[in-house]
Amino acid sequence: MNAKIIGTGWELPAYEADNNYLSTIMDTSDEWITERTGIRKRHLAKEETTTSLAAGAAGKALKASGLRAEQIDLLIVATITSDTETPSTACRVQAELGAVNAVAFDINAACSGFLYAIHTADAFIRSGIYKNALLVGAETLSKLVDWTDRSTCVLFGDGAGAAVLTSSEQGGVTAQTVGSDGSRWEVLSCTGRSNHNPICQEPAGPGFLQMNGQEVFKFAIKTVPLCIEDALEQAGIPAEKVTYFLLHQANKRIIQSVAKRLKQSEDKFPMNIDQCANTSAASLPILLAQMDEQGRLHSGDILVLSGFGAGLTWGACVMEW
Ligand code: ACO
Repeated sequence: MNAKIIGTGWELPAYEADNNYLSTIMDTSDEWITERTGIRKRHLAKEETTTSLAAGAAGKALKASGLRAEQIDLLIVATITSDTETPSTACRVQAELGAVNAVAFDINAACSGFLYAIHTADAFIRSGIYKNALLVGAETLSKLVDWTDRSTCVLFGDGAGAAVLTSSEQGGVTAQTVGSDGSRWEVLSCTGRSNHNPICQEPAGPGFLQMNGQEVFKFAIKTVPLCIEDALEQAGIPAEKVTYFLLHQANKRIIQSVAKRLKQSEDKFPMNIDQCANTSAASLPILLAQMDEQGRLHSGDILVLSGFGAGLTWGACVMEW
């Protein structure tokens, strides 16, 4: 039995900050941001939280799936911006939805988080342990970035996307690959609370997201085509047969470079980075849910999803819609 998506949903904060607005509060310009990244605006949380965005997207995915909350066996939230250190965002979403029979936990794999969630749910569904899984990617990255560091803060946005997967004899996830390289963790990191116990006496307080943008860029354009090729080979499907390649929305130039390396038309690489910026673990499920809502996905379509990010982490999966 395969894990197949039967419902999707997305939610973005109401407030939109475009590049021109950012240029009024820091030394940047619409031209620099658009040319380097493809980003034109991002949604920033004001009233919303990671939990409220996650619950909003999850509720819509659940409704679209036709399942009741009590039928969900597994609820995973992929996030690096949980509102609470503990409990997990997943447990709070469980409470919001009334998914009383689900086992709920978070996954921290940054921008690869939703791929890791699919990997995990697929293993549980394929083994027969669980039947129905609700996966969410949700972030409020705007609270993690340093708003005085123009080289990072302009890149990110807030939002959530979700998908319900169920065990199916036909279609669904047919191949996947995920990887991690912890030796390169410093390329992209955010330090947590320091230890300010009576013995250490380090100053308290969390840090901000730090990124070596060029290293991440090089890593992405090298690793993403390789892991996509690996997943396609496992599935026995040539790239030409793929309907859409949905990539983590980090940078338009990264996506264009991957299309070129795979020798595929850019038309097969849908993007919403101009509207949403980089929403880390939320970017793939938001893109997927928006395409679903727009009626762009049809039964039998072959989709490749691929993510990459802090860790370093990466992944790709092949699925039949
Ligand atoms: N506005 C104007 N100028 C800027 C800005 C800005 N917002 N930010 C940096 N600059 C300047 C720099 O100061 C530098 O100026 P200098 O030449 O006078 O020193 C110049 O622009 C060039 O800076 P670079 O860092 O070399 O710019 P680059 O072309 O590498 O683009 C970018 C930077 C967009 C971050 C790119 O490296 C990139 O996209 N990397 C990938 C990031 C990514 O994909 N992250 C995803 C993972 S996120 C996660 O996992 C949570």
